[in-house]
Amino acid sequence: MTQALLTPDAKPSNAEPKKVFVKTYGCQMNVYDSERMGDALTRDGYQTVDSVEAADLVLINTCHIREKAAEKVYSQLGRLAKLKKQRNADGGDLMVAVAGCVAQAEGSEIIRRAPVVDVVIGPQTYHLLPEALAKARRGERVVETDFPAEDKFDGLPVAPEKSIRARGVAAFLTVQEGCDKFCTFCVVPYTRGSEVSRPVDRILLEAERLAAAGVREITLLGQNVNAWHGKGADGREWGLGELLRRLATIDGIDRLRYTTSHPRDMDDALIAAHGDLPELMPYLHLPVQSGSDRILKAMNRRHTGADYRRLVDRIRAARPDIALSGDFIVGFPGETDADFEDTMQLIRDVRYAAAFSFKYSIRPGTPGAGMDNQVDEAVKTERLLRLQELLSQQTREFGQQCVGKTVELLLEKPGRNTDQIVGRSPWLQPVIVDAKLGKIGDIVKVRITQPGTSSLFAEPVE
Ligand code: SAH
Ligand code: SF4
Ligand code: F3S
Repeated sequence: MTQALLTPDAKPSNAEPKKVFVKTYGCQMNVYDSERMGDALTRDGYQTVDSVEAADLVLINTCHIREKAAEKVYSQLGRLAKLKKQRNADGGDLMVAVAGCVAQAEGSEIIRRAPVVDVVIGPQTYHLLPEALAKARRGERVVETDFPAEDKFDGLPVAPEKSIRARGVAAFLTVQEGCDKFCTFCVVPYTRGSEVSRPVDRILLEAERLAAAGVREITLLGQNVNAWHGKGADGREWGLGELLRRLATIDGIDRLRYTTSHPRDMDDALIAAHGDLPELMPYLHLPVQSGSDRILKAMNRRHTGADYRRLVDRIRAARPDIALSGDFIVGFPGETDADFEDTMQLIRDVRYAAAFSFKYSIRPGTPGAGMDNQVDEAVKTERLLRLQELLSQQTREFGQQCVGKTVELLLEKPGRNTDQIVGRSPWLQPVIVDAKLGKIGDIVKVRITQPGTSSLFAEPVE
């Protein structure tokens, strides 16, 4: 089956193409995986559609990170069960496949709870998707949740140029997957498996293809992207800093980003790259989770608040205009008012341009779930509100500081009004400008004039 996937003309001969609707939850890696699964299905003769009603196959790529994320899947499956019943009554059918981290975490339990599901497929077995669907079409229920020895990416087809173009001028590229850190709140090491880095030549090949299809900005993805390492073209062991330097030499690739980083894996070479690699955008997502050393220890983060502050100082020394974003969890088991205040203080000290924050959510199978000092829900809610108020204030301040600055924008998509076009600043902010300024894919110089609620406005500079 894998072989057939790699053969360019492996299209089935039936006249009417089957239609797939893909729904993606969770992180950027799921977005990337959905694209790659979409490519595999296209190669198999499927056409992607943008509604459940128009689809013969619904593929849900799921996220297990918090309880709410995981539960969304079941309400969706409930709706699909009704649709399938209706279809069957009309003599038709509907196939349902569940991929992603809920698939990995719950396996056949999904089919037990939601019998509408035909295929359950974990993140490391996506190359087996066409085969699984073929089995399902023969009436089998398929559950694929092994961590196979082979690399799923080698078994997935390279994206056709026209799909890359359709996805736009900024693209994701997974270079690393999995996690060996085992933070005590987190499911990722269980759903994505242990840390694996993709080899340099595969990454370069994919980046060159993206560039040839008009992509100008690449965001390298990994659950611990800065833990990426591999044998470089020069025979030496490379880290992410060296990989970024090599990617920057590809013609057409003008902007590079990477996410998500763990503070422990920010090495000197990577920090140096922020100082002297113009293609590397001055924006870094560097989750800290908490500012309390006691809680950081209980979370098994293996860094202290002081380690994190020192690291931020080193990064800012290399690239003074870098914007930082972070992830925060409030109400981890045992978190006291004083611990929470330590988090607030760390935020005040570091100053974030953007942030994501969450109430601690008990995840089955993680050490945090068994801790007996769980924090009251009302306390979590109150802390989250205060924390988010501080963080949004910092985001607003960051937007204000940008006013008057001259920056380069990568024009990415049409604006809501036809006379506008939306670009992305080096700090990842959407910026709205006059459509006459250029076309999608152009990099233009503008002056920021005004901060909006979720985007900025800018005018051309001569
Ligand atoms: N690899 C990244 C983050 C992956 S998950 C890192 O190491 O930081 C994305 C974010 O979800 C985490 O940073 C954390 O803030 C949040 N998260 C993970 N598990 C959670 C849980 N059980 N409850 C609440 N938030 C959680
Ligand atoms: Fe989860 Fe921690 Fe790994 Fe990030 S580093 S994916 S938070 S276990
Ligand atoms: Fe969610 Fe899995 Fe990503 S749990 S955040 S989809 S790695």
